[in-house]
Amino acid sequence: MSTIMLRSIPKTSQFVNKVVFQRQTFTTWKSRITFNTANNGSGNNYNNSDNNDNNYEQNSHGNHYKTAIAAGVAMTAAASVLTTVGNDTKKKDGSGKVDYKSVREAIANLLDVEGYDDGSYGPVFVRLAWHASGTFSAADNSGGSNGGCMRFEPESKWGANSGLQIAREVLEKVKKAHPNISYADLYTLAGVVAVEEMGGPEIKWRPGRSDFADGSKSPPDGRLPDGAQGAAHIRDIFYRMGFNDREIVALLGAHSLGRCHSDRSGFDGPWTRAPTTFSNEFYRVLLEEKWTVRKWSGPKQYENSSKDLMMLPADLALVSDPEFRKYVELYAKDEEAFRSDFAKAYSHLLELGVQFPADHSHGPAPTLEEKKKSLWYRIFG
Ligand code: HEM
Repeated sequence: MSTIMLRSIPKTSQFVNKVVFQRQTFTTWKSRITFNTANNGSGNNYNNSDNNDNNYEQNSHGNHYKTAIAAGVAMTAAASVLTTVGNDTKKKDGSGKVDYKSVREAIANLLDVEGYDDGSYGPVFVRLAWHASGTFSAADNSGGSNGGCMRFEPESKWGANSGLQIAREVLEKVKKAHPNISYADLYTLAGVVAVEEMGGPEIKWRPGRSDFADGSKSPPDGRLPDGAQGAAHIRDIFYRMGFNDREIVALLGAHSLGRCHSDRSGFDGPWTRAPTTFSNEFYRVLLEEKWTVRKWSGPKQYENSSKDLMMLPADLALVSDPEFRKYVELYAKDEEAFRSDFAKAYSHLLELGVQFPADHSHGPAPTLEEKKKSLWYRIFG
């Protein structure tokens, strides 16, 4: 429970400046008032004042909303702590704000690396974010991206996560420079930045994941998909998370990126000829190339006639299953539909199992539904 501390109540005659709040401009006082809903331990600090392009300032410990708002609100915000802190969000426990714009830039600056795969960590970041989240089960709300547990055993040792330690190690540089971001937020944001930097759509992302202290809350192994299997297995895995067939096919379009590594999954090769560019190429080659079983000592996989591309048995299930195939055909000819569906499904995937504070919205443009939940909307309409 929080107490109210009213450090300064500006007079209405002090109406001077404009404060930009989530791209909406409200006139408010010269000296800003900030509401901090403090809460020790898990949660976040959102400083929504002076917000620009996803540039949340967030504390990785404790819910902490900071909103430029009228003095009358003080009366109604009985459960909040009120302080006039400007940009300083330092708390007694040592935690502080996170400049998400800088974090995004730091991640983007890490992506291009000569000598690693096809010259980018982008694809492995996209996979890290997905495997951090894809353990979710809607039945009991277990798993999901909250906790950042892949840095601990048992998740770090799961066969499905082989190779993802590379991504986690690279991201340590960002964590060092921005220690207040949670690993759980960092791993998911890395996937988002990677998609966007590789030419993909804007993915709505918001902070709010907290870290667990160890891997004891990890779900059991076996929740991530097996590339050797077919449509029934894919549906089991993704329906468990709450996705439908269209969303499944949209998500699998991420296989336009990156490649399989024989020393990680056992499979080998890229899906497309432009593996560091986000596109609908995966669907096009899936439909247009002739796929035959590769003759080699590795696990069963398919190759095209020029043998430079590969498909997993799970990928080919998307064309052999008539319901999945409908969407493969749609996305192969309508790239915009793919980009839009992927953006929604990937954003949703990265939020599975996370309890976000109701007042905190996605990115720069909150939806009406999100706005309706905000303190501002509830008080002023
Ligand atoms: C049926 C579902 C899926 C299966 C069976 C599957 C399987 C695989 C396998 C076996 C690899 C190769 C890993 C390696 O050897 O490094 C891989 C890589 C990859 N997967 Fe998936 N995947 C699935 C869904 C997804 C989804 C939903 C996404 C993202 C939205 C995704 C994104 C990626 C990316 C970007 C890579 C390339 C990683 C790299 O280049 O290091 N996959 N996937």
